[in-house]
Amino acid sequence: MIVLGIESTAHTLGIAIKRDRDIINLIDTYQGEYIPRDLAEHHAKVFLKLLREALQKASIEMSEIELISVSQGPGIGAPLSFGIGMANYISSKLKIPLIGVNHGYAHIEIVEYMNGKRGDLALYISGGNTMIVRREDLKIIGETLDMGIGNMLDKAARELGLRGAADLERLALQRDKYIEFPYTVKGMNTTFAGIYTYFVNSIKKNLGTKENLSYSLFHTSFSMLLETLARAVFAYRAKSVVVCGGVAQSKILNVMLDSFSEQYGIEILRTENQYNRDNAAMIAVLGERLYNEGYRSEFPLKSIPRYRVSDSMKHYIRL
Ligand code: FE2
Repeated sequence: MIVLGIESTAHTLGIAIKRDRDIINLIDTYQGEYIPRDLAEHHAKVFLKLLREALQKASIEMSEIELISVSQGPGIGAPLSFGIGMANYISSKLKIPLIGVNHGYAHIEIVEYMNGKRGDLALYISGGNTMIVRREDLKIIGETLDMGIGNMLDKAARELGLRGAADLERLALQRDKYIEFPYTVKGMNTTFAGIYTYFVNSIKKNLGTKENLSYSLFHTSFSMLLETLARAVFAYRAKSVVVCGGVAQSKILNVMLDSFSEQYGIEILRTENQYNRDNAAMIAVLGERLYNEGYRSEFPLKSIPRYRVSDSMKHYIRL
């Protein structure tokens, strides 16, 4: 089957073409301030260029596409609606079936697809999302009570004049010592507003080098996450955990995950960075599987800006 994947929920426009195991996975990410209208304008500007490039790389014509899969939410109104609008248009114009998928579920699915097996739990960590999901029914069993861990790290980076969490991590890796930070875990939930404020104040008061404070921010917030994950692992007798979402790219996190895996005898399922950041390959992969299992979306597709991972299977008609 040849599937076109479209991702446009936030700052990244992704176009993917999946043909059996071969995937062309292209992205164009908006650089700049997070103004919804500007994100949608960016996506509109690069959409055709990316689509053409993907078709060319896959050596196929538009008419050969057999299914379109698009992120239905959660996401930011304007860019999300743009992607869904394009998907509806192409689908009706070329009479290609269309399916919508939950963006968060797609993050989990791509890791499982690449590993060829399912996890018992998933740790989904990105800009706006920080949650532990029970895989069998997609129930959210733990999550952030305030900000997403990725947004927290991005904000901390901008506090130092850096672009985002990746730059902050490069700085953090030059540390020479760990500084004690406040640590808040509530059952299987986490909060990051306190630790963020502590970081900002520590920078202002010069309580350590930028490198050491940044490292301590990463290390402490990841420790909080892994404590909640350990609780979830024991509560649900999990043997494997999918780690997915943009923050799964963190080097510091992956070192900590290695010791977590060793300490608790848990298998960690991971994938390459191109599939952890926002991308359309994951949208194509999940859409194709659900379509082949007989799930259908209503046409025209509508956006669901606050689409919870736990509701991922609630918007389909079953054949
Ligand atoms: Fe995402």
